[in-house]
Amino acid sequence: VAVEPFDLVVFGGTGDLAHRKLFPSLYLRDRDGQMTEPSRIIGVSRSHMDRKEFRADVKKALETYVSAAELEKKAVSRFLDRLDFVAVDATGANGWDDLRTRIADGLDRVRAFYLATSPDLFDAITHGLAKHELLTPKTRVVLEKPLGKDLASAREINAAVADVLPESQIYRIDHYLGKETVQNLMALRFANVLFEPVWDSAHVDHVQITVAEKVGVEGRGGYYDTSGALRDMVQNHILQLLCLVAMEPPSEFEADALRDEKLKVLRALKPIDETNVRSLTVRGQYRQGAIDGKSVPGYIDELPEADSSSTETFVALKAEVQTWRWAGVPFYLRTGKRLPNRVSEIVIQFRDVPLSIFGSAGGFLAPNRLVIRLQPDEGVKLYLMIKDPGPGGMRFREVPLNLSFAETFKGPNPDAYERLLMDVIRGSQALFMRRDEVEAAWMWADPILESWSRLGRVPDPYTAGTWGPSTAVALIERDGRTWHEDP
Ligand code: BG6
Repeated sequence: VAVEPFDLVVFGGTGDLAHRKLFPSLYLRDRDGQMTEPSRIIGVSRSHMDRKEFRADVKKALETYVSAAELEKKAVSRFLDRLDFVAVDATGANGWDDLRTRIADGLDRVRAFYLATSPDLFDAITHGLAKHELLTPKTRVVLEKPLGKDLASAREINAAVADVLPESQIYRIDHYLGKETVQNLMALRFANVLFEPVWDSAHVDHVQITVAEKVGVEGRGGYYDTSGALRDMVQNHILQLLCLVAMEPPSEFEADALRDEKLKVLRALKPIDETNVRSLTVRGQYRQGAIDGKSVPGYIDELPEADSSSTETFVALKAEVQTWRWAGVPFYLRTGKRLPNRVSEIVIQFRDVPLSIFGSAGGFLAPNRLVIRLQPDEGVKLYLMIKDPGPGGMRFREVPLNLSFAETFKGPNPDAYERLLMDVIRGSQALFMRRDEVEAAWMWADPILESWSRLGRVPDPYTAGTWGPSTAVALIERDGRTWHEDP
């Protein structure tokens, strides 16, 4: 469905995120006819470039990050025609007037500003927009992650932005919420009657959330080394996934109803602090190793300017949601770089049957498992015990009911940014984080970071291409459980 005409201004318009994600996503939405004439996209960065150079820069990004099959000559040229460029000094006075003259007049036109810059600039940019009278009632400001590096900095950013804009015009992006299967998690839970009655501590033994990456720090070492896996992945993406698994059904599919429920989950997370951080968390950092048979350097060797670092590239932890529904059910979370596979999945492991009536002859009855695969090979598998065919008696085997999205729904699976960018234009905030959510997530993450630092917890080493340090295996095995691996 086409969206209404808009002006979209991308601060950080020549940066890595703009190249990799924003322009490719915008191009694909335009190619599919979702942009109405005369929508325009204006790149902004500090250093000067003319419009022609900017269009060439974006064209190169499309050629690099969009598959050849999707690059259609006519669509590319129509998209490039929408592009303009202005150099703006975010913290100074230069460029703002120029920017104003390039944006269409009129209060009824959607005017979106995407801040794909360092969060240090969010205050200056939003105040710059206000000072130069660029904000209108139809303005939406998108804030990229990271939203600060701890609770105090997140609060500062939120307060600065709230100075000039109401919450209804602020879109804090977490691109995991735009992933198709993540939205499907809500469909699965709230558009079916089957799961909700067993979605609680009486039926669920534990939950696992894994976001594993093969890549290292990919030239982002400067940023990453000040962040680490807990800030980069857990505080945002993984906690958002946890919220969608654990939240109560909202009364309607509406932004605030949804976010109210997620907030309750975040606030119910059991605190992890100096008293329990040793037993509930594992930090890791990769050393030189091999992935897909190719040797890859260790983390420190990938850093541009450091020869030592105590930043974690892997985290595993055991969380708990202290509510009636979930009390006592562990949520094992793990994420890391340079792991053997790129896989993101949520596993709901149900309890054992109360009694095996088949005796030992039938073999082991594995408890049911629901595996929601976010990427790659998006899909849902429900593992059930089935009788082995044949005359061998009541012997059992674990077999998945397998819903593969690629097989069921032919056609492309849009990137999360495609969906979220169009939601910004439409004014739909359901898949964006509210101020109090972000702060509640930091409120839980801060004491973990502080305890690590106070107790001098250095990351345990792991070889690139393995599933993290052995302490991560021990974390779950201590409880008599194992990390899920798809057979
Ligand atoms: C980003 C992190 O938010 O998410 C990166 O900063 C990470 O470090 C990326 O690689 C993972 O996203 P995706 O969509 O590839 O799983």
